Amino acid sequence: MISPPSFAYVADLLRRETAMLCEPGKEYLVEARLLPLARSAGQPDVDSYVALLGRDPSERAKAIDALTINETSWFRDLAPYQAFTEAMLPPLLEARAHVKHLEIWSAACSSGQEAYSLTMLLKEHLPPGWTARIHATDVSTSMLERVRAGRYSQVEMNRGMPAQRLVTWFTRAGNEWEVSPELRSMVTTQHLNLAAPFPPMPVFDIVFLRNVLIYFDMDTKRDILRRVSSRISPDGYLLLGSSETTLDLDDAWTREAAGRVWMHRPRGASPAVTTSPASTTVRATAGVAQSTAPALSQTGA
Ligand SMILES: C[S@@+](CC[C@H](N)C(=O)[O-])C[C@H]1O[C@@H](n2cnc3c(N)ncnc32)[C@H](O)[C@@H]1O
Repeated sequence: MISPPSFAYVADLLRRETAMLCEPGKEYLVEARLLPLARSAGQPDVDSYVALLGRDPSERAKAIDALTINETSWFRDLAPYQAFTEAMLPPLLEARAHVKHLEIWSAACSSGQEAYSLTMLLKEHLPPGWTARIHATDVSTSMLERVRAGRYSQVEMNRGMPAQRLVTWFTRAGNEWEVSPELRSMVTTQHLNLAAPFPPMPVFDIVFLRNVLIYFDMDTKRDILRRVSSRISPDGYLLLGSSETTLDLDDAWTREAAGRVWMHRPRGASPAVTTSPASTTVRATAGVAQSTAPALSQTGA
């Protein structure tokens, strides 16, 4: 097992480079993730590999990549995607009628399932003549490569991809499924560390910042939310993960219910079309409800 000084070094490195917390008790995880890298670097064990990290920046980058948690799935949690099509798109389509374009940020996009799920909904819901761009960012360069490749294993496809959308938007590529060039052309990628100053970026209509704040301490969460608020249009929306909130963190936001999720909006924004939880009860509309259907095994795809 990794020694306490090596674990402390790795935890400190991860915190400095990504702001992710790696607390005592996670030794087994660090060991499991670094052991394959130690072997391929010709090191006898994880402690020797950690010693190498101090001298080798390229190994450091690989180690950070291996230690980030990339758990994701298609249409993850469903309700945010229902809020996207039912509560956010209608007022934005009205408000952006003069430009007929939407800018969306998938911050901490992991391997791209969130970004490509959004492109499918946009293809289904944008009126003719409209365009949209998904800006997919992550601190992990290997995850960004995966977004650009747009290829997913059968196991990954089984996690939330409805059969109809699989048939429409993917082709077989050996053992994998490849997302269509049409959807790929809607997604741009950029390396971005949420815990560091943001590079120049557009102002976004919608930001998905889901299942990443949980890894940071309070001050980092506060700082990220403050900087994200400066990248959202005054009538735009922010969606967080189901266990994440702006409450007690930043009073620059207001919250509006959309079914089972909260849409966060810059304070002072014009109200969305649907604001009361009662009027936004989740409805199983054709748009998103399909994704609840078990996908691949039923089609034989
Ligand atoms: C659990 S995944 C969430 C993926 C997706 N948003 C979702 O909800 O399914 C967390 C992602 O956050 C990324 N991440 C961790 N720290 C980050 C940071 N400081 N800046 C940007 N991305 C970060 C990880 O690389 C990983 O891809």
